[in-house]
Amino acid sequence: MPTDATAPDRPVPRTPAGPVLPAGFRLGTATAAAQIEGAADIDGRGPSIWDVFAAEPGRIRGGDSPAVACDHYHRWPADVRDLAELGAHDYRFSISWSRILPAGRGEVNRAGLDFYSRLVDGLLAAGITPVPTLYHWDLPQALQSEGGWLERSTADALADYAAVVVDALGDRVTHWLTLNEMNVHTLYGHALTDHAPALGLGLDCLPVAHNLLRAHGLAVDAIRAAGGRHEVGVVQQHFPVLAATGAAGGPDDDDNADVADAESADLFRILTNWTFSDPILRGCYPEDWVAELVMTSAGLTAQQLEQDLVAISRPLDHYGVNYYEPTVIEAPRPGKDYSGVLEVDFPADMPFRPVRIEGVQRTDFDWPIVPSGLTDILVQLHERYPNLPPVTITENGCSYHDEPGPDGAVHDDRRIEFLRAHLAAVVDAIDLGVDVRGYYAWSAMDNFEWAAGYAERFGLVHVDHESQDRTRKDSWYWFRDLIASACSEL
Ligand code: NOJ
Repeated sequence: MPTDATAPDRPVPRTPAGPVLPAGFRLGTATAAAQIEGAADIDGRGPSIWDVFAAEPGRIRGGDSPAVACDHYHRWPADVRDLAELGAHDYRFSISWSRILPAGRGEVNRAGLDFYSRLVDGLLAAGITPVPTLYHWDLPQALQSEGGWLERSTADALADYAAVVVDALGDRVTHWLTLNEMNVHTLYGHALTDHAPALGLGLDCLPVAHNLLRAHGLAVDAIRAAGGRHEVGVVQQHFPVLAATGAAGGPDDDDNADVADAESADLFRILTNWTFSDPILRGCYPEDWVAELVMTSAGLTAQQLEQDLVAISRPLDHYGVNYYEPTVIEAPRPGKDYSGVLEVDFPADMPFRPVRIEGVQRTDFDWPIVPSGLTDILVQLHERYPNLPPVTITENGCSYHDEPGPDGAVHDDRRIEFLRAHLAAVVDAIDLGVDVRGYYAWSAMDNFEWAAGYAERFGLVHVDHESQDRTRKDSWYWFRDLIASACSEL
């Protein structure tokens, strides 16, 4: 049953009560360009690394392609209407760099800017604050062909692109996010081969991390240089990392295994969390050895590194945290099969292995559901960074494969429970002193879930990827009611 403004306002059975959120708390949803827009070849857009990667056989589950995705490029007015009727305060979306600069730098594609200008106007007219992310993993292929994020100059290109976007939209957009999840982009796309551009560099990916961080810093400067009142933030995926034997009920009780697992977990925590947040929030890499490795692998002098860290650590107005699941790590046990624990497999020479978290429920994507992990990581961030800006949960959500039933509705009670529990975990963090100001559900609609294609469904709105029909799930109605009741004082 496609939704439209005249669709009946169907009541949701057994809606659990929502958590009590502080007055002024911002609620909304999030998406990304490559996951929803489609229109890959339309109006002068150039190819991105995800178009090229997806065209390679075997890369995406089911051979799916982002070329059409949710056709949001054409259907955005109806999608904005869904957001307006949801009552969203904010809408986080991303801008496709190769729609604006098809070759990554140089000539600006006016039609690309016009699309986002229309979208921003539509959101503002609906009373929704637009919160664009400048870079959500879809590097223009032309820049990849020149070395991509291994090249220092790619960060300068991102800053130029940011300036073009702010010049075009900055009279109406006041909230900006620079880059999305540099840690996942570095790990999955550059250390491993599960995402574009599939470089498989292992620890040699550190220059990528540094160049992404520098791109963030330069983008902050570009936005501030435009003048006006702009609020700027960045988005990282953060997750608590537990040592297998340190975790309650861990499988081993051997002292050596304990120590080895704790060391592996610590290393994993440094490489996946703190290497990406310490430079931004503390102006340094988490350990001297990381700084040394960055310097030698990126060919920087100590003085250059120091200057870069000044640029990377510009003060921010808010900090975006994406949370999905914790990770449990152990030191590799000889002969043990670790495949299938995450969607990625770690190379044999890595001194850590994620292990399966037992005793918890899982989503249909087989991700463990641990809401308390969100409280834990928020408290960790609060304790680690005395200058942590106000936090927004810029993504949180779950994939369940529920389809419209005979009554035309999508009964996704499990998503409602997931969202409710994670919002309660946010409230717990607030009670413990963390300044959290907002929460965006991932995602506004089912979309192209990267290497998993369309099989995974994170949306509050169901999308039939054949017909493009949209159906509001029960969770959409629940979230709408939560926004209306929890934030009625807004
Ligand atoms: C985080 C990413 O930013 C988003 O693009 C992705 O769809 C979700 N994780 C779910 O995997």
